[in-house]
Amino acid sequence: MTQFADKVALVTGAANGIGRSVAMMLAERGARVVVADMAPAGEQTAADIRAAGGQAEFVRCDVSDGASVAAMVKAAVTSFGRLDIAVNNAGIDPEVAPTATWEERTIDSILAVNVKGVFLCLKYEIEEMLRTGGGAIVNMGSAAGLVGVANKPAYTASKHAVVGLTKASALQYASQGIAINAVCPGAVDTQMLADNLGDPGLKDMVAANHPIGRVASANDIAEAVIWLCSAQASYVTGHALAVDGGLVIQ
Ligand SMILES: NC(=O)c1ccc[n+]([C@@H]2O[C@H](COP(=O)([O-])OP(=O)(O)OC[C@H]3O[C@@H](n4cnc5c(N)ncnc54)[C@H](O)[C@@H]3O)[C@@H](O)[C@H]2O)c1
Repeated sequence: MTQFADKVALVTGAANGIGRSVAMMLAERGARVVVADMAPAGEQTAADIRAAGGQAEFVRCDVSDGASVAAMVKAAVTSFGRLDIAVNNAGIDPEVAPTATWEERTIDSILAVNVKGVFLCLKYEIEEMLRTGGGAIVNMGSAAGLVGVANKPAYTASKHAVVGLTKASALQYASQGIAINAVCPGAVDTQMLADNLGDPGLKDMVAANHPIGRVASANDIAEAVIWLCSAQASYVTGHALAVDGGLVIQ
């Protein structure tokens, strides 16, 4: 498919899970893709894209570090000449515990990746997109960016912040050709969910909380991201799209 034939895309957190699916799907549909991740396994995503006939480069990046993010965007432009699409997907959710028990350093680490990381990505991606006349950016939120989740106070705060950052930045750049949206998944069948649950037997219980009756696949989420990156969504900006099997309408 050649939907994104002339486009250059960057996906953070693309070594695994949702980010990997988004990167693979963008490449299948013709985009040249920068696979960014702090994990070396990102090289495998890029290699898989190339093996399937696509174009991809792996860039090692820690999104919580400004110099690293600036270098990632620079690498995209050096490799492929421009930046049209960015999916700020990297995120962490390392702790499930009541608010009163949280360690300060865990709060800091979640906010550093999930909030500052998205902020830094926006900063450098927008700078580049303004140079070439526009683009589409999708930030990875969560159902926890739309409603409260007990035992996940820092993650909930971080994903509400992602929605806020999305709206503020969308307003700022709407007239300059940059569309900025967020996707807010419910539970998605990735390593993050497995780590959160601990016991695999709990997955059925989580699935039952979603009106559709199952957790999402990474591809379910990638399809929504792809649409927001496409010309078909060109009149959509500042939106936080729940892709959650009906979780937050209950
Ligand atoms: N899995 C779910 O149930 C779920 C639900 C809602 C939202 N999300 C969000 O979707 C996004 C992707 O989650 P996933 O389930 O695919 O997780 P995952 O753990 O499978 O993948 C996350 C990827 O991000 C990378 N990463 C982590 N910190 C990074 C950093 N500082 N710099 C660069 N890369 C970093 C990891 O190496 C990993 O490859 C996250 O933002 C997450 O909060 C996930």
